[in-house]
Amino acid sequence: MLEKNKIYNIDCIEGMRLLQNSSIDLTVTSPPYDNLRSYKGYSFDFESVAKELYRVTKDGGVVVWVVNDATVKGSETGTSFRQALYFKEVGFLLHDTMLYEKDSCPYPETTRYYPSFEYMFILVKGKIGTVHLIADKPNKHYGDKISGTVRNPDGSVIPMSAIKNNTGRKIKPFGIRPNIWRYKMGYMKSTTDKISYKHPAIFPEQLAYDHIISWSNKGDVVLDPFMGSGTTAKMARVAGRDFIGFEISKEYCDIAEERLNTNALFF
Ligand SMILES: C[S@@+](CC[C@H](N)C(=O)[O-])C[C@H]1O[C@@H](n2cnc3c(N)ncnc32)[C@H](O)[C@@H]1O
Repeated sequence: MLEKNKIYNIDCIEGMRLLQNSSIDLTVTSPPYDNLRSYKGYSFDFESVAKELYRVTKDGGVVVWVVNDATVKGSETGTSFRQALYFKEVGFLLHDTMLYEKDSCPYPETTRYYPSFEYMFILVKGKIGTVHLIADKPNKHYGDKISGTVRNPDGSVIPMSAIKNNTGRKIKPFGIRPNIWRYKMGYMKSTTDKISYKHPAIFPEQLAYDHIISWSNKGDVVLDPFMGSGTTAKMARVAGRDFIGFEISKEYCDIAEERLNTNALFF
């Protein structure tokens, strides 16, 4: 097993081959998307990455795969869907297709509605192990008695209040959030670490943090095979998890190291 809490300047397949079977609790990552960014010309072999992720993930462990498609000659590539289906072929369950909605649009379009989201595929190895759903959606009817009805499998309807443990219960102030997550994007919004903007495609710190607290426990090991500017590593540390990262570019590794050394506990 590699030493934890380090970012390795290595191709992610080579890096993952150094990890033992079933040694990772959670992966939060965003690979290069089609050719949307050049990343100094680095590429990766998706099928090998998918197989290695399956091998290194613990039973019940989760992979969060954040991805989008390029539009080539007027048509979206569909790479994201192909990747999600390939993950199923190698054994993962496609637990959920979540969306990451951006509050800004980098490429204004004239023939399409503004592209404002990316996919966040939640892949699980077997039955999901750790789930801590975030309950931060304000409930409109906070304080009211639980009402409404539920339908039984045979089609009959019963009042919610008739369900065991619901009698006299009131609606809580916050409910579980839906599976579309909205984040602020852009300079000093995704993070306040100025150095990270030397990388062309960071994801928001809050996105990484929200997944880390949803699908892992304190002390778990979080992997990012495409570490970029170090967002997953930083947020794993903030959340009290260990991390392992791989990044092929020495320049981006240096950015991530410097970011971790100066800002690792600030959010
Ligand atoms: C979308 S970026 C990740 C950004 C990261 N989530 C962040 O917040 O900074 C993808 C990264 O994968 C790296 N990369 C590309 N091919 C790679 C490979 N074969 N092995 C490891 N890293 C690779 C690129 O250099 C780039 O930094």
